Amino acid sequence: MSKGELNPPLLPPEFEQLRALMYGSVGIALQQGKEELIRTRLLKRLRALGMTTFAKYLALVQSPAGTGEFSTMVDLLTTNKTNFFREEAHFDFIRERVLPRHRNERSPVTIWSAGCSSGEEPYTLAMILRDQIPEPTFSKCRILATDLSTIVLERAKLAIYDELNVADVPPEVQTKSFVPAPPLGGVRRFEVKAEVRKIVSFGRLNLNSPDPWPMRGRFDLIFCRNVMIYFDDETRERLVNRFSDALSPGGFLFIGHSESLSALKVKLRYVKPAVYEKVM
Ligand SMILES: C[S@@+](CC[C@H](N)C(=O)[O-])C[C@H]1O[C@@H](n2cnc3c(N)ncnc32)[C@H](O)[C@@H]1O
Repeated sequence: MSKGELNPPLLPPEFEQLRALMYGSVGIALQQGKEELIRTRLLKRLRALGMTTFAKYLALVQSPAGTGEFSTMVDLLTTNKTNFFREEAHFDFIRERVLPRHRNERSPVTIWSAGCSSGEEPYTLAMILRDQIPEPTFSKCRILATDLSTIVLERAKLAIYDELNVADVPPEVQTKSFVPAPPLGGVRRFEVKAEVRKIVSFGRLNLNSPDPWPMRGRFDLIFCRNVMIYFDDETRERLVNRFSDALSPGGFLFIGHSESLSALKVKLRYVKPAVYEKVM
């Protein structure tokens, strides 16, 4: 830190206000004891805005003019880490257990990627559907991808990824699913092909908003992976039961492999690690 740089403390009442704000609005439970980590994550932002106290920053994010800043704050306090073909066992399960029926019956698949971050998860699903479901059924499949963060959603809609991200995609899928995009800062980039993108739509949705979800119809598959890590048991239980209501009978919910629903009272049946089924 250079001499004279702002370095305000995060006072206990400010931390409590921040905790209440994050929990009440987006269901994210900031843990006691993480004050210094949280202070460090937000400090750069305070400095960029020339703010001398956390109280002023908290006033800004709660003001009508601070909606965008609230989004930035949530981004700084959560992780958007994701990648193509992440947790591959789920995609094997879909290929083996879910898609053969849709292929045989020519029935389109409807999927919700809830907490989609910068789009790698829904685009992976679209690539798999395109590979497994022939036309004209593929074009009737729908993938809804939602996230709280407008910043990651903009990146997702752009559908352009650095070569390092695309390296996670199996080579045969790479050539089928991407076209070269203009390089940036000497880095090679690739764009998801329009024919893959066309079944994916993006929207902003706070999963823990008390309002009813705006989607009509039910989903065959819901992916909510590595999102509920921020929520406490009460919030996760409520959310998983809402997911259950949004699934078609026989539909599946996928969560991250480091997560578990075993401590919760939920209406879904455990199938295998990180996969749950809505019983008829
Ligand atoms: C670690 S990423 C997971 C991305 C992807 N599902 C995966 O597993 O690779 C977690 C995402 O959850 C989103 N998120 C956190 N709280 C949320 C909420 N209350 N409503 C909607 N999205 C939320 C974050 O913005 C972030 O993009």
